[in-house]
Amino acid sequence: MSCLEVNKVYFADVMDFIPKLDDASIDLAIVDPPYNLSKEGWDRFADDKAYFDFTFKWIDLLLPKLKSNCSLYLFNTPFNSAIILNYLNDKDIVFRNWITWYKKDGFSATKKKYVNTQETILFYTKTLSYTFNYNDIRQPYDSTQRIMYAAKKGILKNGKRWFPNENGKLCNDVWQITSQRHKQKVNGKVKKAIHPTVKPREMIERIILASSNENDLVLDLFSGSGMTSIVSKSLNRRYIGCECEKAYVDYIESEGIEIGRL
Ligand SMILES: C[S@@+](CC[C@H](N)C(=O)[O-])C[C@H]1O[C@@H](n2cnc3c(N)ncnc32)[C@H](O)[C@@H]1O
Repeated sequence: MSCLEVNKVYFADVMDFIPKLDDASIDLAIVDPPYNLSKEGWDRFADDKAYFDFTFKWIDLLLPKLKSNCSLYLFNTPFNSAIILNYLNDKDIVFRNWITWYKKDGFSATKKKYVNTQETILFYTKTLSYTFNYNDIRQPYDSTQRIMYAAKKGILKNGKRWFPNENGKLCNDVWQITSQRHKQKVNGKVKKAIHPTVKPREMIERIILASSNENDLVLDLFSGSGMTSIVSKSLNRRYIGCECEKAYVDYIESEGIEIGRL
C-alpha cells in the first residue's frame, strides 16, 4: 500500500482517499454509500443527477483498485441499485447476485404504496476466478422434521439417495436479517444510535467469511460506525477504511480501530 497503511480507517473524503490506494490491491470491497434519502447531511444531494454523478465518480475511481480475484458488494435501495447495475453493465466486472436484504423494518409507514422492508446488495467479482467459501456460510434448513428424517434414511432424488449437510443448506440470495435499528428498539421506540445506518454484524460476517480468506485485504469504503473494519479485524482479515464525519471516526477509534489521516 503505497502511502496508506493497512488496518486503519482514514478520516477523509472518499474522493481523496481512493486515488491513494494501490491499483489491484483489494481482495474484498464492501461499500455502503449514502443512499440519497436525506437521512443526515451526508445523505443529502441537490437532486438525483448530483447523487448519481457522485456515485459514478467513486465507482470509476474504485474499479482499478480491485485485485483480479476481488469481490465487490454494493449496498443501496432497489431503485438506486437498478441504475448502478445498469452503469456497471458496461464495465469490466462480472455480475453475480442481486441479494435482497429483508430487514423486517420499514423506511416509513405509508398507506399509498407497499412499505419498503428491503435493501439491495449487488454482488460482483472482478473476474471469473474468486474466493467463495460457501461452506462457511451455510444456513439452517427450514423443515427440521423432514431433514431429521432425511439425515437417517436419505431422500430419493433423481435415483440417488440425498442426505442433508450437517452444517445446513447453501446460502441463498434473500437474507432475512433484522436491521440494527429494529434490534435497538425499546418497547417499539427507536433508540438514538451512534450511527443511523449501521449494518448488522452477522450480515457483514457472512460477506467476509464467504468472499475472503484470512489475511486478505478488505476495503470498508464509507465506514460509518466501522462495522466492516471491526468484523474484518475479528476474523483476522486486514482492512482499510474511509469515513469523513468526525463523530463516527471518534466512535470507530473507541472500538479499537486505528485512525489514519491523508
Ligand atoms: C450508509 S453509511 C455507512 C454505514 C456503515 N456501513 C455501518 O455499518 O456503520 C455511509 C457513511 O458514509 C459517510 N460518507 C458520506 N459521504 C462520504 C464521503 N464523500 N467520503 C467519506 N465518507 C462519506 C457518511 O458519513 C456515513 O457514515
